[in-house]
Amino acid sequence: METRIVSGRQRDEEQSLEQSVRPRRLAEYIGQDQIKESLSIAIRAAQERGEPLDHVLFYGPPGLGKTTLAGIIAAEMGVNLRITTGPAIERPGDLVSILTNLRPGDVLFIDEIHRLNRLVEEVLYPAMEDFAVDIVIGKGPSARSMRLTLPRFTLVGATTRLALLTSPLRDRFGAIYRLDFYPVEALVQILDRAAQIFHIDLTPDGAREIARRSRGTPRIALRLLRRVRDYAQVRANGQITQHVAQEALRLLAIDAQGLDEVDRHILRTIIEKFDGGPVGIQTLAAATSEEIDTIMDVYEPYLLQLGFIQRTPRGRIATRRAYSHLGIPYPAEREAVQAALFALDNEREGADPEQ
Ligand code: ADE
Repeated sequence: METRIVSGRQRDEEQSLEQSVRPRRLAEYIGQDQIKESLSIAIRAAQERGEPLDHVLFYGPPGLGKTTLAGIIAAEMGVNLRITTGPAIERPGDLVSILTNLRPGDVLFIDEIHRLNRLVEEVLYPAMEDFAVDIVIGKGPSARSMRLTLPRFTLVGATTRLALLTSPLRDRFGAIYRLDFYPVEALVQILDRAAQIFHIDLTPDGAREIARRSRGTPRIALRLLRRVRDYAQVRANGQITQHVAQEALRLLAIDAQGLDEVDRHILRTIIEKFDGGPVGIQTLAAATSEEIDTIMDVYEPYLLQLGFIQRTPRGRIATRRAYSHLGIPYPAEREAVQAALFALDNEREGADPEQ
């Protein structure tokens, strides 16, 4: 299980806290302005026509609000939300049973939709396209295929890895949205909103300090808020000031950029064990004892966003910025090595094999 404080992945005990601050309507949702605007137009248009919303796919790192947006879509459309995940739907029959129990207009949310198995995925195609499923009745020579009509529904899919979705599935979504990391200002607003709901005494500087170290991720910001609140209660007078936030986060070994020991371990491994890279993701995973998926879903997106690592066709490299952040001198010959690799890779025109 995940033990890391700055992981975007959700922990079980967090679910209720997260749900109690989760915005229920689009107007309460902070950040992702383009997605909000586009969704509000689509929702209004569908409502005016008396139709369900087109199928929607959200992708991006964990903790950015994909499930929240699915809930908001259902609330705005005034329909029920049914939540499941790719790995939970084991057999085609499981999906047929979910689909036939939907009511007209309902939203079906499938998280980790890239993890659906192929047979289940094939049931989804006609369901999404024609609102129908084909079921086989009987066995052997007397088996017959029968088409069941489904209520019209909206599928909301979510994935951390768009590249792992098959193209037939991807093509059946009417809209595909990428969720981006949140700017510090948006995280400050999210923290202020949560502080109000939970009656936490949070100063503007305190909020900013937490926001800056939250890796652009609301789920992490809210998690850090809880930890800092504990610290403020036990070691200060309950008020979260900038100083209190700094001290609490220092105890959690979260640095000024929001990196924790695992992030720094990954960077240090690339630099010290692999001379700054390039190193393949499998090799990196083995050397750091982390799972490939976890590196790709959780750690890497933010390190890329900060410009601490780069992905090349040959693997990951640590950038000058990463050396500087860790206080390691950048070796003079790195520039030349990188330029040579860059030229080689451009010649090869190879696609990234590690997508
Ligand atoms: N809580 C978590 N994410 C949020 C968001 N994007 N807007 C408002 N509150 C939130």
